[in-house]
Amino acid sequence: MKFVVTGAAGFIGSQLAERLLDGGHDIVAVDCFTDYYDAALKEENAAGLEVARLDLAEETLDLAGVDGVFHLAGQPGVRSFGDVFEEYVRRNLLASRRVFEAAAAAGTRVVFASSSSIYGDAERYPTPEESEPRPISPYGITKLGCEQLAYAYSQGFGLDAVVLRYFTFYGPRQRPDMALARIVGALARGSSFELYGDGLQSRSFTYVSDGVEATIAAMERGRTGTVYNVGGGEEATMREAIATLERVSGRTLDLVERPAAAGDVRRTSADVARIERDLGWRATTSLQDGLQAQWEWASARVAAP
Ligand code: UGA
Repeated sequence: MKFVVTGAAGFIGSQLAERLLDGGHDIVAVDCFTDYYDAALKEENAAGLEVARLDLAEETLDLAGVDGVFHLAGQPGVRSFGDVFEEYVRRNLLASRRVFEAAAAAGTRVVFASSSSIYGDAERYPTPEESEPRPISPYGITKLGCEQLAYAYSQGFGLDAVVLRYFTFYGPRQRPDMALARIVGALARGSSFELYGDGLQSRSFTYVSDGVEATIAAMERGRTGTVYNVGGGEEATMREAIATLERVSGRTLDLVERPAAAGDVRRTSADVARIERDLGWRATTSLQDGLQAQWEWASARVAAP
């Protein structure tokens, strides 16, 4: 099969693209290498791929002969208040509108990477997909808007879309602005880590290769028009994740306490009954094993000359 992967130089997109190639598929990998974080890291992620530079907010995807689009490109990060909102609107809403329109016209399935942040401080935990969305970050609002755009294009133009709500993916190549990447970096370099809030906020951390498998399963056999939570099996607080990483690394983290950040949710906990039932998927990597792999990856990079 031939698939387009948008955001193919990113943390998740690059590993999805590699997995598709390993599975014998053809891919068209695109990314616009934004400067949200060091573009050298994206070049490194994309090293084994041919990634075309494309700004989806302005350019149109050529979907001739393409069997499906994995739309992972976007502006991430929940701490998104202020003038940066324009980037969120452009890179999430404006870009996705063009992707959905092209896919609807070509009759090509889209698997869209949305986020647990659309739930905000959720109605209930574990959180099923039908919970009321009430994002508390501008980022979450744009991701929810993208989900709703996909729905509108499905109603108006027959778009075949499957929406995945990713719950805090982690592992090798995790974005450098994310907490676990900063923690392993601080442990490896002996620098400090700034903890926002009391550290008792918790996440359904999801190991990246588990999430990649869920993403491929959604393309292969997701029900059209369906939203699926993609969440790891184990919820942990930031303090628990830090304790595990200290054990794994044999080092002590230099922790600096900072006020809680606007846009951060207190808790995420994925109800994964739907994805288990429809796709037969569940996360299989324990937090301990996943953090071990992330630590090994990050510490080897710091040690490299
Ligand atoms: C992450 C991603 O950044 C979003 O792009 C994604 O959509 C979302 O997961 C999701 O999958 O739902 P988040 O869970 O907030 O968002 O992940 P982190 O940025 O790693 O933050 C986790 C926790 O660590 C937050 O409570 C945050 O306050 C805290 N944190 C983060 C710190 O204490 N210090 C830091 O330097 C960074």
